[in-house]
Amino acid sequence: MMKINLTGKKALVGASTSGLGKAIAIQLASCGASITIMARNETKLKTVIQELDTSFNQNHNYIVVDFYDYRDYESVISKYFQSNSVDILVNNTNGPEAGTVFEKTSEDYQIAFDLLFKTTQFTTSLALKSMQENNFGRIINATSMSVKEPINHLVLSNSIRAAVTTWAKTLASSIAISGITVNNILTGIFDTERIKELNHKKAKELGVDVNAILDELQNSIPMKRIGKPEEFAYLVAFLASEYASYITGTNIAIDGGLIKSL
Ligand SMILES: NC(=O)c1ccc[n+]([C@@H]2O[C@H](COP(=O)([O-])OP(=O)(O)OC[C@H]3O[C@@H](n4cnc5c(N)ncnc54)[C@H](OP(=O)(O)O)[C@@H]3O)[C@@H](O)[C@H]2O)c1
Repeated sequence: MMKINLTGKKALVGASTSGLGKAIAIQLASCGASITIMARNETKLKTVIQELDTSFNQNHNYIVVDFYDYRDYESVISKYFQSNSVDILVNNTNGPEAGTVFEKTSEDYQIAFDLLFKTTQFTTSLALKSMQENNFGRIINATSMSVKEPINHLVLSNSIRAAVTTWAKTLASSIAISGITVNNILTGIFDTERIKELNHKKAKELGVDVNAILDELQNSIPMKRIGKPEEFAYLVAFLASEYASYITGTNIAIDGGLIKSL
């Protein structure tokens, strides 16, 4: 019988006061893990901490970070790891700005690189130290279906998440012997603030009602609906668990069938 039990495990989850990150924090806590959540707004962080399950006597914590200020992030997260270790690392940040290949400048790519790649690579390098000592670790990178099927108006996401994907594959095979797994989740379309924002932007550009954009989006998905953040979180909990011990170096799509390629 499969029953996910993460008691005694410590998880660090990025961008976790709303959307996918929050759902992941809630799910991992309900499986018994102690969670550290990260975002900018301290009031929201404190509120989410109160919502996390504590029935396994776990301690939850938060760090105030700004993923857009890489230098500051590096210093804050380094300080955190001086007195903390992590068994489960969920690399998730806010999304990069939308925009097409004609709109984005070299500077925009640099900003997206710091946001998506450097935060992931640096946090992972710190987390790996104790994971290697313990011969256990789970690195879970929330990426996007855009890695497999680039989305025209999300060129920054398409480009930089692809770099995260190949880096993760390299890391997975380099570290596999240590009981540490590294996997990417290819996110489809989920009902979060990020998607609402993108839909509003598109509706404004096209001069149509935002509900028309949502309808079109839902119709493009074989399941005819967008995903619920908790559905995403179930996959993270599985990957974090002992049941996923032989899964590493993979890209797992969760998209209601949206990705068309094999
Ligand atoms: N939702 C989807 O359908 C979808 C699809 C593909 C990929 N993704 C990706 O999944 C990730 C999470 O998206 P989501 O939909 O869950 O977003 P969301 O609901 O908008 O949540 C964003 C979270 O990030 C935090 N945040 C925003 N800016 C930040 C910053 N500069 N520094 C630190 N934290 C920041 C927010 O809290 P504060 O504002 O308090 O900081 C919040 O907790 C993004 O990278 C997104 O591109 C999402």
